[in-house]
Amino acid sequence: MSPISTKRHGDILIVTSNNPPVNALGHAVRQGLVAAIEEADADDAVKAVVIRCEGQTFFAGADVSEFGTPKAFEAPMLPQVVDRIENCTKPVVAAIHGTALGGGLEVALACHYRVAVPTAKLGVPEVKLGLLPGAGGTQRLPRVVGVQKALEMTTSGTPIGAKEAFALGLVDRLIEGDLEQHSVAYADEVKEVRPLQKTSERDDKLAEARANPGIFEEFRKANARKMRGFDAPEANIKAVQAAVEKPYAEGVLEERRLFMELMSGKQAKAQQYFFFAERKASKIEGLPEDTKPRDIKRVGVIGAGTMGGGISMNFLSAGIPVTIVEMQQEALDRGTGIMRKNYEATAAKGRMTAEQVDGAMGLLKPTLNFDDLAECDLIIEAVFENMDVKKDVFSRLDKIAKPGAILASNTSYLNIDEIAAVTSRPQDVVGLHFFSPANVMKLLEIVRGAKTAPDVLVTAMQLSKKIKKVAVVAGVCYGFIGNRMLIPRQTQAMQLLLEGATPEQVDRVHVEFGMPMGPFQMADLAGVDIGWHRDPNRIENIRDALCAIDRWGQKKGAGFYDYDDKRRPSPSPTVQEIIEQFRAKEGITPRDISDQEIMERTIYTMVNEGAKILEEGMAQRASDIDVVWVYGYGWPVYRGGPMHWADGEGLQKIVDALKGQQERLGSDFTLSNLLVQKAQAGEKFTR
Ligand code: 3HC
Ligand code: NAI
Repeated sequence: MSPISTKRHGDILIVTSNNPPVNALGHAVRQGLVAAIEEADADDAVKAVVIRCEGQTFFAGADVSEFGTPKAFEAPMLPQVVDRIENCTKPVVAAIHGTALGGGLEVALACHYRVAVPTAKLGVPEVKLGLLPGAGGTQRLPRVVGVQKALEMTTSGTPIGAKEAFALGLVDRLIEGDLEQHSVAYADEVKEVRPLQKTSERDDKLAEARANPGIFEEFRKANARKMRGFDAPEANIKAVQAAVEKPYAEGVLEERRLFMELMSGKQAKAQQYFFFAERKASKIEGLPEDTKPRDIKRVGVIGAGTMGGGISMNFLSAGIPVTIVEMQQEALDRGTGIMRKNYEATAAKGRMTAEQVDGAMGLLKPTLNFDDLAECDLIIEAVFENMDVKKDVFSRLDKIAKPGAILASNTSYLNIDEIAAVTSRPQDVVGLHFFSPANVMKLLEIVRGAKTAPDVLVTAMQLSKKIKKVAVVAGVCYGFIGNRMLIPRQTQAMQLLLEGATPEQVDRVHVEFGMPMGPFQMADLAGVDIGWHRDPNRIENIRDALCAIDRWGQKKGAGFYDYDDKRRPSPSPTVQEIIEQFRAKEGITPRDISDQEIMERTIYTMVNEGAKILEEGMAQRASDIDVVWVYGYGWPVYRGGPMHWADGEGLQKIVDALKGQQERLGSDFTLSNLLVQKAQAGEKFTR
C-alpha cells in the first residue's frame, strides 16, 4: 500500500503521507506524491492541494537508509518530485508540524504556500550528513529567507522555529488549533490566486547579496573555525552562491554537481554512518523487551565540585528537582554559586531568560544533611576519585536510600562492581560517567555492572535523552571506553617527548587530524595534576616535574605550555629544559620524529585499545566506541570515529605499522587479537 493517500474536502485535495517513524521521503513516498499532484492536475473539481503528514512529523528528509542503494536513484528522484509540485497548476499548501527537515523542507519550499503549527521546526540538516540540500533547497531557500539566513541555515544545519520562519516569510501563516482543518481553510482562501508564485522564479530576496558579492567571503571568514576540516559547509556556500550568481536552472545544475561530489566522498559516508551509530547506541543488548523504566522524580547529587555542579544542572534544566549534598557549607556555597553563574552566563548570551535561571535554581535543594537523599529516586555520587571514599559513601547510601532508588557513581576509572558490593542492593548500582564540563558535554557512559538490573539500565538510557545526552553502555574496566583509550595515547605521547618530539609537534599532528586539541593541550586544560601523587619531592617523570613546580596547566598559567593573561599558549623553554634533563638521565639521544610515527604511536594505539574493548565485550558494538569519541573528546565526525576511521585507513596497514613500532611501544603493549584477525580476514569493524 502506498504511504501516500488522498481525500477530498470539497474542492481541496488533501494529500497525506503515512510513513512512520519520520515520514522520510523514500521511493514509495516520492512516487505517491507525484501521483497525487497528477491527480490534482487532472481533475477540474480540485482547486487546491494540501500536503500533510500523519504521525510525529512532517517529512524529516530524504530516506537516509536508501543512500548508497539503487532505490535512491529510482525515479522519481526528489528534485523531480519538488519540480512536479511547484509546477502543479493548482495552489499547493504545505501543512507543517513536527520537523520539516532537509528534503522535507525542500518539498515545502516547492509548495506555493506553507503553514505551520507554532511548535514546528524547519531546517536543512544535510550538512550534518556531509551533504547539501540536493533537491533545489540551496536555490529556493535563499529566494525565500535571503542569502545571509540561507548561508547560516545550510552551513549549520540547525533548524529554526516556526515563529522565526514566519517572521522570515518561510511560513505564511501560523496555525493554532487543528492543523488539517486550518490548512484546508487556508487553501480555500488562496485557491483562486493567480499567477501561482513559484519559489524558483522569485528574485527579490537575492537582490541584496547581488549588490554585495563580498557576503560570501565575509561569511567564510566569520565561520572558518567552526567549519575547519569539513567539506560540506564550503559546498553549501558555493551552492548558495550559485543561486545568487546564476539563473535558477543553472544554479540547480551546480547544486546537483556539488551534491554528487559530496555524496561520493569519504566525509559524507562517515557522517551518515555516524547518524545511525548515534541512534544505535541507545539500544541496549540482552534486556527483556518489556523492561519498564523506574520513575525518577527527584535526583540526588553527592559532591558539589567540578562534576557535581554540572551534573545537577542537567537535571535542573530538564525540570527535575535536585538535592545536592556537600560536607561543608563553604564547598556547598561555592558549588551552587558556580551553577548560578553558569546559568547567568547562558542568560547573558540570550539563551535563557532571568525567570528560567531562577526557575532552574529554584529546583535545587542544597544541603549538608546526607539523610536528605532519602527522598531521591536516583542518587549520583561525584565525590573524590578514591575507592575508600566511594565505598564509605555507598555503604551510607545503602542505609538511607529508599527501596528501588538507583545508586550511581560518576567515577572515571574505578570498579563499579567493587563499589556495588558494599551495598545490599548491587542490582540498583550503575556507573553514570559524565564528561567535563558536565552541563555542556553531550556524552554519558552508562557503566553496566555485573549485577546491574535491566530496568536500571533502561531508566538511565531514557533519562539521558531527557537531559539531552547521548549515552553509550560500557562494561566495567579501567577507564571504561573513552578514558581507557586515552591511556595508550597519553603514554606514547609522553614517551615521544623523551625520544625527541615536542609537545607542539605532537599536538599539531592531532589538531591537523581534526581533533580540537592534542594530548598536551588537553592535559593543560583538564589539569596536569589530575591523579598526581601530590608529593613535590617525588619526581619520577616529566609530569611529576611539572606538577612539583606548580605547572598544573591553564589554571596556573603554565603547564606543558606557557600561557599569557588571555590563556594564549606558547612553547615553554622551561618544559623543554625538563624534557632534556629526563633525556640525559635516561641516556636517550633525541632523534627526528616524523608526523607519521606520532600518528602510529598515538592514534593507531587508540584503535588497538578500542579493538581490545570490543573483544572483551566492554562495548556493545564498534560504533558505540565511535560515539564515545565524537561526543566525549571531539573526534572529527567527518572521520566517523576511531573504529570507522580505522576501517578506511586499512586494518592491515594499522597492524603492520604497530608491529613495526612494537619495540618503541614498549613491553606493556600488546596487539589486539581481534584487530589482527579482522585485518587478516579482510573484515571491517563498522559498515
Ligand atoms: N531517513 C531514514 N531514517 C530516518 C531519518 C531519515 N531522514 N530520520 C530519522 N530516521 C529514523 C532513525 O534512524 C530512527 O530509526 P530507529 O528507530 O530505527 O533507530 C527513527 O527514524 C527515529 O529517529 P530519531 O531517533 O532520531 O527520532 P527523534 O524523534 O529523536 O528525532 C528527527 C526525529 C528530528 C526527525 C531526527 O530523526 C532527525 O534529525 N532526522 C534526520 C533529518 C535529516 O537529516 N534530514 C535530511 C536528510 S538528507 C536529505 O534530505 C537530502 C536531500 O536534500 C536530497
Ligand atoms: P572535585 O574535587 O571537584 O569535587 C568533589 C567534591 O566532593 C568536593 O567538593 C568535596 O567536598 C565533595 N565530597 C567529597 N566527599 C564527600 C562526601 N562524603 N559527601 C559529600 N561531598 C563530598 O572532584 P570532581 O572533579 O568533581 O570529580 C568527582 C568525581 O567525578 C570523581 O570520581 C572523578 O573521577 C569524576 N569525574 C571527574 C571528571 C573531571 O574532569 N573532573 C570527569 C568525569 C568524572
